Amino acid sequence: MDGGVFRIGSGPQRPGVRVEEAEVVVIGSGMAGLVASLSLAPRRVTLLTKTGDLPGGSSNWAQGGIAAAVGDGDSAGSHAADTVAAGAGLTDPLVAELLTREGAQRLNAWIGRGLPFDRDGAGRILLGREAAHSASRILHAGGDATGRTLTGWLASRVRQAPHVDIRTGAFAWELVVEQGRIAGVLAHHADAGWVFHRTGTVLLATGGIGQLYRHTTNPEESTGDGLALAALAGAELADLEFVQFHPTALAAEAGRRTPLLTEALRGAGAHLLDGSGRRFMPDEHPDAELAPRDVVARAIGTRIAAGQRVFLDLRPIWVAGGAAKFPTVAAILAEAGIDPAVQPVPVAPAAHYHMGGVVTDLDARTSVQGLYAAGEVACTGVHGANRLASNSLLEAIVFAERAAASILAHPAPAPYAPVPQAPAVAADGTGLAGLADAARTVMARTAGLVRDGAGLSRALMDLADLQHRADRLRRMAGLAAGDVRAAGELRNRLLISRLVVQAALGRTESRGAHARTDWPQPRPEWLRRQVLTLADVATPELVPA
Ligand code: SIN
Repeated sequence: MDGGVFRIGSGPQRPGVRVEEAEVVVIGSGMAGLVASLSLAPRRVTLLTKTGDLPGGSSNWAQGGIAAAVGDGDSAGSHAADTVAAGAGLTDPLVAELLTREGAQRLNAWIGRGLPFDRDGAGRILLGREAAHSASRILHAGGDATGRTLTGWLASRVRQAPHVDIRTGAFAWELVVEQGRIAGVLAHHADAGWVFHRTGTVLLATGGIGQLYRHTTNPEESTGDGLALAALAGAELADLEFVQFHPTALAAEAGRRTPLLTEALRGAGAHLLDGSGRRFMPDEHPDAELAPRDVVARAIGTRIAAGQRVFLDLRPIWVAGGAAKFPTVAAILAEAGIDPAVQPVPVAPAAHYHMGGVVTDLDARTSVQGLYAAGEVACTGVHGANRLASNSLLEAIVFAERAAASILAHPAPAPYAPVPQAPAVAADGTGLAGLADAARTVMARTAGLVRDGAGLSRALMDLADLQHRADRLRRMAGLAAGDVRAAGELRNRLLISRLVVQAALGRTESRGAHARTDWPQPRPEWLRRQVLTLADVATPELVPA
């Protein structure tokens, strides 16, 4: 089966494809893409990003910081133990050991190069506490503007780096593979049309899948593009069923994103209240508001599903000067017309982070030769069934640098491959948006915080039906770049939604972020990861129209 690949053999005149040679192509401009691009010097890097400027992706929006054992009395061993405990039995302890040990070293090296973190009056880096960490080890920058501050700093260095050719507005459509090896990337450029970037080495740094869901803290570019490109290229994917929902997003949409209210607020003393103003988390878990993220998210989600509202009470923090410590949250609430000093803030869980991804080894290599992955798109095995807060930016740095070191050590010329044809992907933009919206609803209803087999089976049929409708829409000529991106994102969304649902249906147990009402307990036979490829996309009979 074709997994929903948008290729048709005949039809409208196809546009031409220009060829450009590249030593290394990096796709994505969040933390992993920026760090890798800098670390790949002196190799010539073509950095493709579909956004209009650097930086892009979720890293830019991270409020919570970077966890690293850099403080007095802390140790990588303790950080690794917390990481393993959060992963609910599926975290690979060797990767946790590597992440925490190398992470602290690599972060110290970046601090030495000037990466800016918040410090106290004596110049010492300030370290905060977050849920399920046994020590204060969270570094922040610009208060709760950590992602923006760090990726902004990195992006300014990438802009000045002579070895990096930055190509914004560039949508990666296909990884070209020849005899099992990467041979290039076919991309659509808003300013230059179709380009075949001939290369033997590609690093995916495309982030996560939050936009597959109706409510997400992720930006609009998080549509699972890298996962889909890797799947279509034949790569192995793992842990796809594990989607982390952040407990406290603002219960109001801002465009296509649901703004995050950082966990650090609860670390600083904010409480969760139900509709009657009662604090409920102490009844749910001994760690109350600082219980593991999936526990807090489900406690909130079940109340909302029962028709209640849930609030985050920031008043104790705000009276103690919280607005200065949490400037991003203050701005979000001001825009929403909420004064947290006088009223509790309505919150709801939102899709936040994907533990699953493209299977990678310790050097970020995937199962396809010449294809690397780092950051959220990758599955190193370190997050298991539940990511420990603030481990993601650390993972992005460590594995982007390891990927760069491996690429530098093993130069790979591009194998010969014929120039690919530009696909005929034309479609009506409005129709695409409607299908994307319908898919988001299916995912939110069936593959969210709480799942069951019947709902997941139904979702597979609904998604296959949407795929058929998408296939019917893609036959118009005269593409604009926006149409190509919308068509590609829809292809990627539908493919990855189906794989996530397939994985959730396959895992007949509850573990970490994956909770099923029909299989409510963890089961020993599922103490293993689930690896899927494109061949595993189910094609159920369509529901009659
Ligand atoms: C947060 O600030 O609450 C998010 C941190 C994270 O997801 O690691």
